[in-house]
Amino acid sequence: MCPNLLKILCLLAFAALMPPAVAQNALPLGPGRDETIKACSGCHGTDTFQGIRRSEGQWETTIQNMVNFGMTISDADYDTVLAYLSTYLGRTPPPAASP
Ligand code: HEC
Repeated sequence: MCPNLLKILCLLAFAALMPPAVAQNALPLGPGRDETIKACSGCHGTDTFQGIRRSEGQWETTIQNMVNFGMTISDADYDTVLAYLSTYLGRTPPPAASP
């Protein structure tokens, strides 16, 4: 009995802690965010890259790697996603835009 109750309490405590952690790690708001989520969440979650900071050239290489992995992206979305990544996940990201 007791160990089960502990497990439930533990899960509840964990669940209560989850939402802020998720919000904190979400991709920053900004132009191109929707396109980036669309293009980049098909094979892995955005958590694969949302904490990374790279220069524009490094993001270009990353996107090229994803294309090699089988990603399809239109030319327009490519430019939008590259601009978004190199701005908001760049070396010196701006403060988050308001919603
Ligand atoms: C076609 C499937 C696919 C799509 C779409 C995709 N990825 Fe990936 N991604 C992968 C695979 C496969 C790996 C390798 C996973 C591993 O290393 O375990 C990976 C790994 C990564 C990594 C970790 C490796 C590194 O370069 O540090 C990053 C960052 C990344 N992806 C970013 C992106 C971004 C940004 C996009 C959108 C432009 C994207 N991915 C879209 C398949 C994809």
